[in-house]
Amino acid sequence: MVDLIESAEAQLVVECGSGTSTLWIAYALRELGHGKVVALEHLPEYAMRTQAVIDDHGLGWFADVRLAPLRKRSTDRGDYLWYDFEPRSLHAAIDVLLVDGPPQDTGRHARYPALPLLRDRLAPGARILCDDTNRRDEKEMIDYWLEDEPRLARQSSPAPDLEVLMLRA
Ligand SMILES: C[S@@+](CC[C@H](N)C(=O)[O-])C[C@H]1O[C@@H](n2cnc3c(N)ncnc32)[C@H](O)[C@@H]1O
Repeated sequence: MVDLIESAEAQLVVECGSGTSTLWIAYALRELGHGKVVALEHLPEYAMRTQAVIDDHGLGWFADVRLAPLRKRSTDRGDYLWYDFEPRSLHAAIDVLLVDGPPQDTGRHARYPALPLLRDRLAPGARILCDDTNRRDEKEMIDYWLEDEPRLARQSSPAPDLEVLMLRA
């Protein structure tokens, strides 16, 4: 994740599902000397925890933790519970998208909406890093994305449960 952010010289990272990863991303951005991570979090408790860790490390400049409860969101493949988040509120195009939420117990293919709902905000050449790709839902999610978006291609699989995709320019 850090390598990806550094090699992309990311200005804007969006993370679905906050946690310790948010801290690592903020440190990676500080190393770069620029950029911001917008971390979407549906649970108030975890939003507060992530915010507290970011504050403890003095990284508030690099991280924007957004409490975004799950609500019904419509896609071409049907309705899903996904973050109550307005992509137009982003200040720039997304260079790196990390897909590690919502948790699988919130619904079948719970993470699928990330691509259809954020596609218009992805920068040309954007990278998408998906966690938990050893699970059936996440494997099928990527298959759906590749069917839906011809500009999307698999790029690498740095670990058995991780997959990186790239949106061609
Ligand atoms: C897979 S976790 C996201 C983890 C985060 N991206 C990371 O790697 O640190 C997905 C969701 O589970 C919840 N969560 C976060 N940390 C957790 C923990 N330690 N135990 C259980 N649930 C957690 C939060 O609601 C989070 O959005």
